[in-house]
Amino acid sequence: MAGRAPVLPPGWSLVALDSVGSTNDEARRLGHDGAADCTVVWALEQTAGRGRQGRAWASPRGNLYCSLVLRPPIALRRAAELSFVAALGLGEALAELLPPTVELRYKWPNDVLLNGRKVSGILVESALRADQSIDFLVLGVGVNVDRRPDEARFPATSLKDEGAAAGTGPAAVLEAFARRFQVWADRWRAQGFAPVRQAWQARAWRLNQTLDIRLGARGSVSGRFDGLAEDGALVLSLADGTRRTVAAGDVSAARAGQG
Ligand code: BTN
Repeated sequence: MAGRAPVLPPGWSLVALDSVGSTNDEARRLGHDGAADCTVVWALEQTAGRGRQGRAWASPRGNLYCSLVLRPPIALRRAAELSFVAALGLGEALAELLPPTVELRYKWPNDVLLNGRKVSGILVESALRADQSIDFLVLGVGVNVDRRPDEARFPATSLKDEGAAAGTGPAAVLEAFARRFQVWADRWRAQGFAPVRQAWQARAWRLNQTLDIRLGARGSVSGRFDGLAEDGALVLSLADGTRRTVAAGDVSAARAGQG
């Protein structure tokens, strides 16, 4: 593999690849083979990168594509918490690499926005035992470092576009992400989801403003974004005064005139 290898926190191990279909698929394969907690699969390009809700994730050389095998001793219903842990780790890592004038926000569920544009995506998948307990999780992270693939759904950006120092490459981003993720994962293990939820909400995109949420085959819903529920679901206040929590969907700003 070209370039320098990232320095990872103690106890992590790296599987560095030139090209792969999807790092999430490779991490899953390694997980089934018994890969240890905090094994990272990192590739310079993906030929079949996957995003949320079955979408493709364009994966040209120049950006970061990595997936962690994680073996947290938690119930499946808490797995989504880890994607917020990852978003915070990623946000703090990117902040270290960018000018302080860049506005960083978290968009539900797990996107990091820089100056209102999406720079990264997180995809958590689970491998379960027969009794539905977690065997391992795969936490996939993609960051636009040098390239900004066109995103039809939401405007995209890259670290390069937002003023990261010349020479900031995928290895530097992986290194910073691993370090900050470890800090947040330790905090989460010790204190639970509450501090994660609080830190995420402190930089939430459009908190207390109106959002439109597309729910796939179940249509869409609009309401004021009140924050995260205790399990990470999105809490909305609807126009009729009722509250609704949403566990999965695509969020956008309300259309003009709706707040
Ligand atoms: C999203 O839709 O926002 C999530 C995108 C996740 C992309 C990353 S890139 C590394 C890992 N491998 C994949 O195939 N997907 C994730």
